[in-house]
Amino acid sequence: MADFGAVGRADASAERIPVAVLISGRGSNMAALVAAAQADDCPYRVVLVAANDPDAGGLAIARTAGIATFALSHKGMARAAFDAVLDAEIRRAGAEWIALAGYMRLLSPSFIAGWTGRIVNIHPSLLPLYKGLDTHARAIAAGDTEGGCSVHIVTPELDDGPVVAQARVPILPGDTPDTLAARVLPAEHALYPKTLAELVRA
Ligand code: GRF
Repeated sequence: MADFGAVGRADASAERIPVAVLISGRGSNMAALVAAAQADDCPYRVVLVAANDPDAGGLAIARTAGIATFALSHKGMARAAFDAVLDAEIRRAGAEWIALAGYMRLLSPSFIAGWTGRIVNIHPSLLPLYKGLDTHARAIAAGDTEGGCSVHIVTPELDDGPVVAQARVPILPGDTPDTLAARVLPAEHALYPKTLAELVRA
């Protein structure tokens, strides 16, 4: 009997929703998204990893995984001009969704307008608490007993778009921003691929 297994797998891959991942640094969330995409039933595939810092550590992870990369320093470029280059690269790669994974640049309103509802971000706090930086230090300073992470749709305001999913972790006596970050990060790595899969399936 003919074996159509390989054909079936190729078709399934072609049907997966193409996603671009934007990073600025080590890229551990990007790596989690890429690892999850190895599963046969993952509904997305990562077609591009782009960075605004050519030294971003995550670029090497992406290259090793065989994923196309694009890196350009934003330094010396106007935000809108930089974002226009980025937008063109993402569209050239065929992406239909964008996942921000430690991307430390505000995207310009015109960029976001071209992707309304299809840019997602992970943020290391229980939004709407602690938008911006130093989230873990702020949660500890406030005396919170829980921290966590949120996946949200990106809108022009920083860390402000609709929250799609959250994961919670305890904040323990004696926690420092580093120990709390180390507890939240694995929760991010579990939450982000699962949530992105749900979003692109919807
Ligand atoms: C993560 O904590 C993420 O929530 C935040 O920036 C950090 C990026 O880490 N937006 P990594 O580059 O994914 O390891």
